[in-house]
Amino acid sequence: MKLNRRRLLVAGASIGLAKPSRSFAVPTIYAPSDLKPVVIASGNGNQFKNGGTVTCVEKAFSLMTGQTDILDALIAGVNIVELDPAETSVGYGGMPNADGIVQLDSCCMHGAKKRAGGVACLEGVRTPSLVAKAVMDQTDHHLIVGKDAQKFARTIGMTIEDDLNTPHSRQMYLEWKRRADPEHYLDPAKRAQAGMAATLQMAQERLIDPHHMYGTINCNGVNAKGEIAGVTTTSGLAFKIPGRVGDSPILGAGLYVDGAVGAAGSTGRGEANLYNLSSFLIVENLRRGMRPKDAGMEALKRIRANTIEKRLLDKNGNPSFSLQFYIVNAKGEHAGVSMYGNPQYAVCTEKGSTFATCDNLL
Ligand code: GLY
Repeated sequence: MKLNRRRLLVAGASIGLAKPSRSFAVPTIYAPSDLKPVVIASGNGNQFKNGGTVTCVEKAFSLMTGQTDILDALIAGVNIVELDPAETSVGYGGMPNADGIVQLDSCCMHGAKKRAGGVACLEGVRTPSLVAKAVMDQTDHHLIVGKDAQKFARTIGMTIEDDLNTPHSRQMYLEWKRRADPEHYLDPAKRAQAGMAATLQMAQERLIDPHHMYGTINCNGVNAKGEIAGVTTTSGLAFKIPGRVGDSPILGAGLYVDGAVGAAGSTGRGEANLYNLSSFLIVENLRRGMRPKDAGMEALKRIRANTIEKRLLDKNGNPSFSLQFYIVNAKGEHAGVSMYGNPQYAVCTEKGSTFATCDNLL
């Protein structure tokens, strides 16, 4: 076995998301010739560094090429994003709910161990992915929610904070409240409509990142042993109804991993994903031999076909929301697919980190 070290070059910046290139060392990787170890993530996985020197995918890749378990490596990666106050859709500084409280969801899944864990509506813990991992490792369950998720987090020694808002997220909440004026409407349907209209308007004005209305980071990897894992973590829909849980912590929706087949996870409108359990569908498509891009496109087509409510359709009868999937198969082949546009997703291999472009359905 050769033990020379290679440099990981951060190519970055095809869409200007990454800071200028930098490099760091990882051991030479020995893997079967038909296996390409890789970590992929939504674009924020190669953007935020929380004041450090590496992004999520870089950290996860360099750890998983060492001795670190693949899921621990991915979680260490997303922790960077969860802790970064500048990322407004994940962890600390994520957009709060309609009561101004940050509620976080996460789940993780280990393909080789065939285990998973999740938390939803967790308040006061900056890194819900670590609590999801503890649910997987330390309980017989998959999902713990709400106040009891916080109690569980306290029990395992996590720091519980009164408030995960940052000055920015609080300012955005007050702006949203001013615009939505929810107390003014007696009719709950109108109130929800006003809330969504205010959120969309704030996204159009770039007060909040349009990609972060539903926020989220999903990060999946395949290591040199061919082990596959994934993690998804989010503050969910900006200004959501308190208690609303999206797709992120739900297995088969926000994330699914099969240790022999591949992994898929999502960002975007969680409800549309939940109705179709798309991550599970994508992994099943991989199992049937589809390539990652085709597997993802099939799921987007299913979502499009199942979206029939007028309020969710544009003037052409297509979904008026976006949804993305990040897909990797057991060989390390990957794709990103999006209902609309060409968002970038993060990729890190032994050659370095970069962005790749999602293919779109519409
Ligand atoms: N996809 C994140 C959410 O809907 O909460």
